[in-house]
Amino acid sequence: GASTAGGRGALICFEGLDRSGKSTQAKRLFESLKKQGKVELWRFPDRQTPTGTLIKQYLENAENLDDRAVHLLYSANRWEKMQDMVKKMEAGTTILMDRYAYSGAAYTAAKNIPGASLAWCQASDAGLPAPDLTIFLKLSATAAASRKGYGEERYENTKFQEQVYQQYATLAQQDPSCWTTLPAEEDMTLLSDKIRELVDTTLDDVRQAALSARLP
Ligand code: TYD
Ligand code: MG
Repeated sequence: GASTAGGRGALICFEGLDRSGKSTQAKRLFESLKKQGKVELWRFPDRQTPTGTLIKQYLENAENLDDRAVHLLYSANRWEKMQDMVKKMEAGTTILMDRYAYSGAAYTAAKNIPGASLAWCQASDAGLPAPDLTIFLKLSATAAASRKGYGEERYENTKFQEQVYQQYATLAQQDPSCWTTLPAEEDMTLLSDKIRELVDTTLDDVRQAALSARLP
């Protein structure tokens, strides 16, 4: 069952390229889980916090920032919410993340900045709670480009998205136990059902497990 009664909540992340359907699937999962237990839907970047305001301006191309500075802002944007995140999970709330630290690492590493290796990009998130399950919605960069609304924001171009995909692939290999890749092209309802099944298994597994795993 999906109830989290008696144990901690789980940390479940959605990752993928822009327009891969993360927000849609995270919302659908949220709606289905909330009937059975405590669950919240979060997204990163969180554009409401102090760092989020800067990130928002940057993404809408209203502001130019050094790539390393913006990377650290994204990371700080997660750290700002860390204590709240842990407190809620300890109290039994499952948190669904629409993007998390893997986005941080994959998008900055994809920029190929000298000195900013994938390891450098991961370092600023080291110590954040590790996800219990990461659902990677796999969509080709060309398929993403044909989806509605694409191209309005920074990063939404095919060449860059292909680079991001390569970085995600490396991250997936680093932690195969918590990663599941699903085809984003699949029918929305079928995909939701598959996700729900995976999540139910994760919720059963974490009920007795301590919240100690941290990102490396
Ligand atoms: P996105 O999820 O696309 O937000 P929205 O659905 O509101 O457009 O996130 C915005 C962009 O930020 C996206 O292109 C990925 C990028 N990003 C990073 O570069 N680093 C990060 O740490 C995060 C969380 C996102
Ligand atoms: Mg976007």
